Amino acid sequence: MKILGIESTCDETAASVVEDGRRLLSNVVVSQIDIHSEYGGVVPEVAARSHIEVINPVVNKALLDAKCDWDDIDAIAVSYAPGLIGSLMVGTLAARTLAILHDKPLYPVHHVEGHVYANFITEASDSEQFADLKLPQSVPKFPSLALCVSGLHTQLVLFHGHGDYELLGQTQDDAVGEAFDKVAKILGLPYPGGPSVDAAAEQGDPRRYRLPSARLANPYDFSFSGLKTAVLRAVQAETGNDFRFPSHELAELLTDAQRHDFAASFQHTAIKTLVDKTLAAYDAYSPASVVIAGGVAASRELRRQLRKRLPIDIEYAPMSLCTDNGAMVATLGYYQAQQIQPTDPYALEVEPSVSMTAMTWA
Ligand code: KG4
Ligand code: ZN
Repeated sequence: MKILGIESTCDETAASVVEDGRRLLSNVVVSQIDIHSEYGGVVPEVAARSHIEVINPVVNKALLDAKCDWDDIDAIAVSYAPGLIGSLMVGTLAARTLAILHDKPLYPVHHVEGHVYANFITEASDSEQFADLKLPQSVPKFPSLALCVSGLHTQLVLFHGHGDYELLGQTQDDAVGEAFDKVAKILGLPYPGGPSVDAAAEQGDPRRYRLPSARLANPYDFSFSGLKTAVLRAVQAETGNDFRFPSHELAELLTDAQRHDFAASFQHTAIKTLVDKTLAAYDAYSPASVVIAGGVAASRELRRQLRKRLPIDIEYAPMSLCTDNGAMVATLGYYQAQQIQPTDPYALEVEPSVSMTAMTWA
């Protein structure tokens, strides 16, 4: 069964064809990073317009790369929640229109749940572009503990089976990816913050600055806004300023060595919090597998710390399938197609802020 997956929740327009929920046939991602980096963050209106410009060529290229025409496609899956409303509407309307036009079943998927399904892709076609792709050897086993970490979400979720999961905890304020993006801005590192903090931290000393981690009543909940503010205060102190000094002028006062040390100290603390809580949930629930999902799953420090501290082996999806893509959407769509009826393409509405736990579908 070949499924076309469409993704446009934030600033990536993406489409992909995946066969039987595991074999990658194509993966086309057009990123708007260049457009938004000028503003230091995503501008929703600009994002929506950019999706409109490229959605059709992206879908056509996904079919072409997969050597498919419409007759080969069995169903369409689309991220219809959560995300920026204008961005979501472009992908969802495209998917609805294509489903009606080509008479294909349509499966709406939750974006964060989709990220988890990047871990189910274990094969790829022999296309040149996948030659260096290092995929997991096997699919996650249930019960599976998923650490979902993106620009908008930070959650620990226990999957009992496909579409059957419970939320153990989540962030009470900023998402961890958002904290990376904001700290990068304070330090004068380019957008998006995750990869640039990751790169700067490689040259820094993670123990140079002591930063706090939050204590919360639920051991699986997270909070990152205090850590972000602690970085700001420490940068102010280090440069001899206080809270009255404009924060956007602080970065230029830092030396490269200080910038690298701040990046490393922040990253170490943020990632240690994620790993501590994942380990606590692992001890309490004894899952058969642990997966990481979402853009922050591309973090090298997260992979290092988890590998070192988890008592079981952990496999990672390749970096290119951790950040937003259509393949994860197509893969989740495949599992839905095995268990539930498709949605009505004339009626599907986007859901900008629905949480994953309100969505258990099996
Ligand atoms: O899942 P994603 O591509 O988009 C959302 O659904 O939000 O996640 C984007 C987030 C951004 O906050 C970005 O800074 C972060 O993932 N990110 C990283 C890394 N690569 C991307 N964070 C830490 N380390 C990385 N290497
Ligand atoms: Zn995402």
